[in-house]
Amino acid sequence: MKKPWSGRFTKKTNELVEAFTESLSFDRRLYEEDIKGSIAHVNMLKKQKIITAREANLILKGLEEIKTEIENGKFEFKKEFEDIHMAIESRLKEKIGDVAGKIHTARSRNDQVALDIKLYIKKKIIDIYRLLEELQKVFLNKSEMYQTCIAPAYTHLQRAQPVFLGHYLLSFVEMWERDKSRLIDCYKRMDYSPLGSCALAGTTFPIDREYVAKNLGFSGVTTNSMDAVSDRDFAVELLSHLSIIMMHLSRLCEDMILWNTYEFSFVILPDDFCTGSSIMPQKKNPDVLELVRGKTGRVYGSLLALLTIMKALPMTYNRDMQEDKEHIFDGVDTVISSLEVLIPLFEKTEFNVKRLIEESKKGFILATEIADYLSKKGLPFRMAHEITGKIVAYCEKHNKELYELSIDEFKKFYSGFEKDVLDAINMENAVGMKNVVGGTGKKSLQDQIKMWKKRLKVE
Ligand code: ARG
Repeated sequence: MKKPWSGRFTKKTNELVEAFTESLSFDRRLYEEDIKGSIAHVNMLKKQKIITAREANLILKGLEEIKTEIENGKFEFKKEFEDIHMAIESRLKEKIGDVAGKIHTARSRNDQVALDIKLYIKKKIIDIYRLLEELQKVFLNKSEMYQTCIAPAYTHLQRAQPVFLGHYLLSFVEMWERDKSRLIDCYKRMDYSPLGSCALAGTTFPIDREYVAKNLGFSGVTTNSMDAVSDRDFAVELLSHLSIIMMHLSRLCEDMILWNTYEFSFVILPDDFCTGSSIMPQKKNPDVLELVRGKTGRVYGSLLALLTIMKALPMTYNRDMQEDKEHIFDGVDTVISSLEVLIPLFEKTEFNVKRLIEESKKGFILATEIADYLSKKGLPFRMAHEITGKIVAYCEKHNKELYELSIDEFKKFYSGFEKDVLDAINMENAVGMKNVVGGTGKKSLQDQIKMWKKRLKVE
C-alpha cells in the first residue's frame, strides 16, 4: 500500500518500523470522531468554495459508507495504514479515487488527532458524569433507608464517635459531587476546536474555523495553533480527575471489605456480586471491591505515564504524543467498568443494623460526650478531657462501659457530675443532637437528604 506521505521516500517502510509505529490497533476506536470531524471539515471546505460541491458530496458519501463498513465489521484494519486517520483516508481513496485526497486540504493529522481525542474525551466525560450521578442516587436512597441507624465511625481505625449510617453514606455523595464538578471544569476548559491549526502554523486557505467548531458542538476555537497541536493538558486533567474518582471508590471499597469481614460483619454484600473460594467453602469474597481498589493503581499509573510522556517534549507535536491514547482509553474504561459494577452492587447491598447499633455502644465511643458535658458545665475543655480519660481508664480496669457507671462513680472523678450526665451519654441524644450544619444530627441529616434530593432531582 502506498503511504499518503510516500512522495519523499525511495524505499518502502521497514516492516519492523511499521509494526512499531502503528497506532491503528488501538486508535481505531476513534473512528466515529474521526469521521465526524472529517464531515464537518469537508462541509466547511465546500461552504468556503475551497473544494467544489461535487467533490465534497463524493467525499461525504464515501465517509458515510466507510462508517457503515466499520460498524458492520466489513472494514479491514490493516496495520500498514498506520493510524485511524490514514486508514479512513486510504479506504476513501479506494472508493472514490484521487478526489479523496482533497479531504486533507487545510488540515494535518496533528490538528486532526487533537480534535479526535477531544471529541472522544468530551463524550466520555458525559458518560462518567451520568454514572457518578447514578451512584449518588443509590447512596442517597440508602442513606434515607438507614437514616436512623446508628453506626460507629472511626479515626485511625479506632472507634471515634457514633454517627447515623445515613450520614456516613452521604459523605460519599459529597465526594462524587466534587468529582462531577471537576469533570465539568475539565470539559469547559477543553471545549475549543483545534481544527484549522493544521500542522502547527495555521493555513493560508480561507477556512471557517468557527463554523466547524460550532458544527462539532464546541464552544469556540483555540487561539494559538502551536499550542493547539501540542496541548494534551486536557488528557492529563482527565486522568487526574479519574484518579481522584478511583481514589474515592477505592476508599469506599476498602471500608466495605473491612465491614464485610467476620470480625466487623456490618455489611451484607449481595451474593451475586461476590465470589467463592475454590478450597474454603465458607468464603464469600468481596473480589469486585478488591479489584476496584486494585484498578485504582492502574489509573494512577496512566496519569503518571502521560505526565512523563509530555514532560520535556519540545514544541510542538511529537510522535511521543501518540502514546497518550492507550492511557486515556484505559483510564476511561477502568472508571466506567468500575462504576458500572458498583452501581448494582450497592443497590443490592444491605447493612446489618442490629450489629451496627450493638457495636456502637461499645468501646467508650461516647467519651467525647462526657468531656463536652463537663465543659458545658464550665470546665475548660482540656481539664474535662483529662477527667474523662481517667473515667475511661477506670472503666477499662473494671471491665465496664461508660453507660454502666452510676452517678456516684462519676462523682468520684469530679464532684460536679449530676444526673443529667446520663442524658449526655444517651446514644439517641449524642448522635441525634449534633445539628450543626454538616453534622450527623437528626435534623441536620434530614436537611442534607432534602438538599441532595433537590440537587439530584430525586423524588
Ligand atoms: N497517530 C498519530 C498520533 O496518534 C497521529 C498524528 C501523527 N502526526 C504526524 N505528524 N506523524 O499522534
